[in-house]
Amino acid sequence: MEELLYEGKAKRIYGTDQEDVVRVQYKDSATAYNGEKKAEIVGKGRLNNEITSLLFSKLSDAGIPSHFIEKISGNEQLVKRVQIIPLEVVVRNFAAGSFSKRLGVEEGKKLSRPIVEFYLKDDALGDPLITDEHVDVLSLATADEVAELKAAALKINEVLGGFFTEIGVRLIDFKLEFGKDADGNILLADEISPDTCRLWDMETQEKLDKDVFRRDLGNLTDAYETILTRLGGQLHV
Ligand code: C5P
Repeated sequence: MEELLYEGKAKRIYGTDQEDVVRVQYKDSATAYNGEKKAEIVGKGRLNNEITSLLFSKLSDAGIPSHFIEKISGNEQLVKRVQIIPLEVVVRNFAAGSFSKRLGVEEGKKLSRPIVEFYLKDDALGDPLITDEHVDVLSLATADEVAELKAAALKINEVLGGFFTEIGVRLIDFKLEFGKDADGNILLADEISPDTCRLWDMETQEKLDKDVFRRDLGNLTDAYETILTRLGGQLHV
C-alpha cells in the first residue's frame, strides 16, 4: 500500500515506488473561508484533476514546465516530488475578492497592470498577506527567488490569460504554488483549476469558479463543467 504523505483540504498525496514521483488524488470536498464553509460535491475532484491536467499540459507545450507528469485516472495524477515553498503567489488582473475588500475597489475593475502578491501558507494564521521584506526576514525565500517567483507568475499569467481568452473567459485572478525539486530548481506545482482561479464569462460576466460555492451563486459542478468543456476536455470518460 502506498504511503499517504499528506492530506490537505482538497487533495491527498501518496508516495509511489519511485522516490521522485508522488500521486495526487483530488477529493470531492469543497472548503472556503479557511475551512469554515465545507461541503462534499460529487465529481468536483475529477473536474479539478481534468482541468489542472489540461492546463499543466498546455502550459508545458507553451514552454512553462511544472511538477505535472501525467493523469492516471479520473481523479488522480502523477507529479514530480517537490518541497513546496510556503507561499501562495497570487496574480491579479482585475479587482476582486480580498483585494476589493481590503482596498475598497469595486469588483471587476481592471487594474492598470497585473500585480503579484504573496500570502504565507499557514492555515492557523489564515494565510496572511505578506511583503517581500517579511519573506526575507522569515527566510521563506531569497531575494533572487522572490524575483524568480514574480517573473514566473507574470509569465504564467500571460500564457494562461491567453488560453482563457480563447474560450471566452476572463482570468480575473489566480493563486499559484511553487516547489523545489531535489536539485533545488523552482517548479510550478499544486493545481490550476476553478478552485484556484477567478474565471468570469466574457459575455455574461457569469462566475465560473469557486466563488459559486463561496457565495452560494448556484451549481458549482455546472460552472466547472463549462470550463472543462470549453478547454476541450471531456465531461465523461
Ligand atoms: O481571496 P483572494 O481574493 O485573495 O483570492 C485571490 C485568488 O487566489 C482567487 O482566485 C482565489 O481563488 C485564489 N486563492 C486560492 N487559495 C487560497 C486563497 C486564494 O486558490 N488559499
